[in-house]
Amino acid sequence: MRDTEQAARSDCPPSVVRPPSSASKVGRDCPLCPRLVAFRSGWRAREPGWHNAPVPSFGPVEARLLIVGLAPGLQGANRTGRPFTGDFAGYLLYATLRDYGFTKGDYAARPDDGLTLVDARITNAVRCVPPENKPLGEEIANCRGFLKATIAEMPNLAAILPLGRIAHDSTVAALGRRRSALPFGHGATHAVDGIALFDSYHCSRYNTNTGVLTEEMFRKVFAAVCRYLDARSQETTTAALSSGGKTG
Ligand code: URA
Repeated sequence: MRDTEQAARSDCPPSVVRPPSSASKVGRDCPLCPRLVAFRSGWRAREPGWHNAPVPSFGPVEARLLIVGLAPGLQGANRTGRPFTGDFAGYLLYATLRDYGFTKGDYAARPDDGLTLVDARITNAVRCVPPENKPLGEEIANCRGFLKATIAEMPNLAAILPLGRIAHDSTVAALGRRRSALPFGHGATHAVDGIALFDSYHCSRYNTNTGVLTEEMFRKVFAAVCRYLDARSQETTTAALSSGGKTG
């Protein structure tokens, strides 16, 4: 458990279509990526009961931690409408979030399972399901405006945990930094304007089945995030007390 474990600045390139500024919410019919629109339309016709639309962020905007995934899985988040919900990757992600105290309620792989996130929010670098789980570079860039807006609207944001290199690179670009200055590495940390980045390999089926990412490796990243968040709270409390702030 968390207590016991010790306890938008860069502009899109000119070729990229810009979403409306400060828009963290994407309409159901976002038109920015023609290939993803066509894929989405095909699945709307085949599975009218599925979400089949951009998947919104999940969790409170006041959270200190933002987790950035890659993109919705076809039969997971694209079907259910909640990030990582119904996706293989969601089992490890939500179990780890639970173990570190970031959830309330039980994850049951459905959007009506009553699960809520505590001090954490989940979003995706690309909000629409891409064919074969592989978004193109221009789709990642098109969706970055929404990632920027998601970051910008979080008043208490202290830590970002991008899952995998693509999420890392898009987050770094959304924060206005060069990828080469902040290279991705599992377990690497970077500081950007008061926000700490904690890199992890993506908790995908491929990575966990091949041992690229083990549960232990994933838990270590979360333990580091929690130590950091706890230390920040401690600093804030100490600063408030030493400046004569009243606590009660
Ligand atoms: N589901 C998501 O929502 N995001 C991912 O990165 C993987 C599965």
